[in-house]
Amino acid sequence: MKRIQPWFPTFLYCDRLQRGAWQRFNRELLQECHQIQEFDEAGKKWSAKNYPGGFTSYGSMDKLHQFSSTFMELEQMIDRHVRAYARALEWDLGGRRLKMTDCWVNIMPFRTAHSLHLHPNSVVSGTYYVATPKGCAGLKFEDPRLSKFMAAPPRRVATKPANQLYVNYPAEAGNVVLFESWIRHEVTANPVESERVSISFNYDWD
Ligand code: NI
Repeated sequence: MKRIQPWFPTFLYCDRLQRGAWQRFNRELLQECHQIQEFDEAGKKWSAKNYPGGFTSYGSMDKLHQFSSTFMELEQMIDRHVRAYARALEWDLGGRRLKMTDCWVNIMPFRTAHSLHLHPNSVVSGTYYVATPKGCAGLKFEDPRLSKFMAAPPRRVATKPANQLYVNYPAEAGNVVLFESWIRHEVTANPVESERVSISFNYDWD
């Protein structure tokens, strides 16, 4: 056995949602995201309080996969990726199935941020990117062991990838990013003038 080996890795998943006509599909999604923003009055109120400057349907319309055929299609495509991720994690689901429980829209204009958080009561969470203007904020993950390090000395600024305390996944339209729901993550303030639009979701097993 090698003298020093890494153990207990954290697996993050990123892939293109589909090989097909993703641009046409994203145009449809983008249109629906804006329609939701327009008529979701409860969501606008919730966002004003909890998502300053931006819009999210997280507090109001969070089951979009049960609401429109476009989102249903999205769910079916994401399902395949979640199954592949679960296989890589070597989960034994004991005959139970991973199922999308929540699905909501996030619209982030210039300077809107989403601070560090996790997704309680879910097993897999993730985001699909609909519109990602050049230079917009990515998805930043934190080393889940950070709270355990106590008196450990700081790391060098430039470390090997596996020793980084944070990793940033650039937001790229057409990509789906998956992570275990307990991994803390954030979106730093969108530094570009155009809107960054994404759809987030949770999976549970039942
Ligand atoms: Ni999140």
